[in-house]
Amino acid sequence: MSDSDALVGAARRARDHARADYSGFRVGAALECADGAIVTGCNIENATYGLTVCAERVALFKALSEGHSAFVRIAVVADTEAPTPPCGPCRQLLWEFAGDLEVVLANLTRETGRYQLAVLFPLPFDGSLLGTRG
Ligand code: THU
Repeated sequence: MSDSDALVGAARRARDHARADYSGFRVGAALECADGAIVTGCNIENATYGLTVCAERVALFKALSEGHSAFVRIAVVADTEAPTPPCGPCRQLLWEFAGDLEVVLANLTRETGRYQLAVLFPLPFDGSLLGTRG
């Protein structure tokens, strides 16, 4: 039993709700908040293709909109043998709103990888460079 089994399980169940009619590629995500809450997301595609939102961003935006502001870990599940890591835009948003969280990648039966976000997203552009705060 790993420390992220419950989180990966939640991401697998969230994947069942994916709206992936265009790509057929279903993804689930589960974000563990610092207060222990787990907030899930799935990818949501639409006829424009370009307005697709990844599972990670759905989970992040749900969590932020529900008042969660600190995060520990995110699990991402897809039906692939190789790890399915967050795309570039998701890395940017996770970095800005969740910081250097742990990213647990899994498929339908096993964990496929585990990384710190800082490793997946080196040399980020973020608010600290804008000189408008802090
Ligand atoms: N997708 C995610 O939801 N998360 C990822 O980490 C990779 C890609 C979605 C976007 C799109 O709906 C489908 O997978 C194919 O790119």
